[in-house]
Amino acid sequence: MPDLGTKYMGLQLRNPLLVASCSLTATVEGVKKAADAGAGAVVLKSLFEEQIEAEVDEVADSSWLPGHPEAFDYVRKMGGALSSVKYLELVNEAKNAVDIPVIASLNCVTPRWWINYARKLEDAGADGLELNISIRPSDPERTAKQIEKLYFDILESVRSRIKIPIAVKIGPYFTSMGHVATELANRGADALVLFNRFFRLDIDIEKMKLVSGNPFSSPEEMGRTLRWVALLAGRIRADVAASRGIHDADSLIKMLLAGANVVEMCSAFYKNGIEYVSTVLKGLQDWMARHNFADIEAFRCKLSQEESEHPELYERLQYIKALTGIE
Ligand SMILES: Cc1cc2nc3c(=O)[nH]c(=O)nc-3n(C[C@H](O)[C@H](O)[C@H](O)COP(=O)(O)O)c2cc1C
Repeated sequence: MPDLGTKYMGLQLRNPLLVASCSLTATVEGVKKAADAGAGAVVLKSLFEEQIEAEVDEVADSSWLPGHPEAFDYVRKMGGALSSVKYLELVNEAKNAVDIPVIASLNCVTPRWWINYARKLEDAGADGLELNISIRPSDPERTAKQIEKLYFDILESVRSRIKIPIAVKIGPYFTSMGHVATELANRGADALVLFNRFFRLDIDIEKMKLVSGNPFSSPEEMGRTLRWVALLAGRIRADVAASRGIHDADSLIKMLLAGANVVEMCSAFYKNGIEYVSTVLKGLQDWMARHNFADIEAFRCKLSQEESEHPELYERLQYIKALTGIE
């Protein structure tokens, strides 16, 4: 029987399949189901910065505060602490309920709230922390350098306060992805999660209003992740978690061959149920047995650019006849 055990940002995992941060991991019951289905680890649903802001505003709006800046500041702090309490409970209870690593997740757009919370998450028993940093580059006054600096500041401010491993989950929209990934790794990220999938915006043309687009990925979306995993794995001083568009064992295997340490899956579990974890793992095990791989390290990273005899193939942005065989 091939051994599926592996390491991810220093954590020992029974296999490289993580349930990604989503509503399936928002409750202790959900976390238990993921563990029972065989997941290697879970990433809890994120605590969103806007959630905390909203709670703070709600309290701050109450009548006695206007005109009292000190009281306002106090409540801001309190609001943050209150919001984190529920999340800390989830971390603590989930940790006690399962034997697999539990990774907490914070969705940040500024460094403001997280410094103290991160320490509390560590104290609550989180095995690791995933920072989902989502800064939309829509402000015409902000340069790419300023935006990148925000990512680095958030990471460094949290890194300086906690000892547990930190993964940074980013989207694919950087002009200089190689540089940003390298800098995040050098500044203390133990892993990068490639990639986040952002909320889709759509428009209902009859009601003429904004609606939410399809929240779930399609398998076709894995191409971009695969390319960047292959380009970065082994080149940066951080592990790589592949995410987005991974819907079956074949795509999981591709990501591992490209160099990912683990994969984080989500949409496929909404579609097939969380029990689908075991189907994917069985597919991985069967493939390893067929190819006589005793463990994950026997094949992981085999097809990364770093290991390749033809690194130029990974850099092509345009189609060429030799590659596609179509023209
Ligand atoms: C319903 C739903 C809720 C999600 N909530 C979060 C979240 O709270 N934090 C986060 O980092 N990602 C969240 N995600 C994104 C997933 O963690 C994952 O990165 C993304 O769906 C891509 O993986 P997939 O292609 O396997 O779905 C959510 C995704 C879905 C579908």
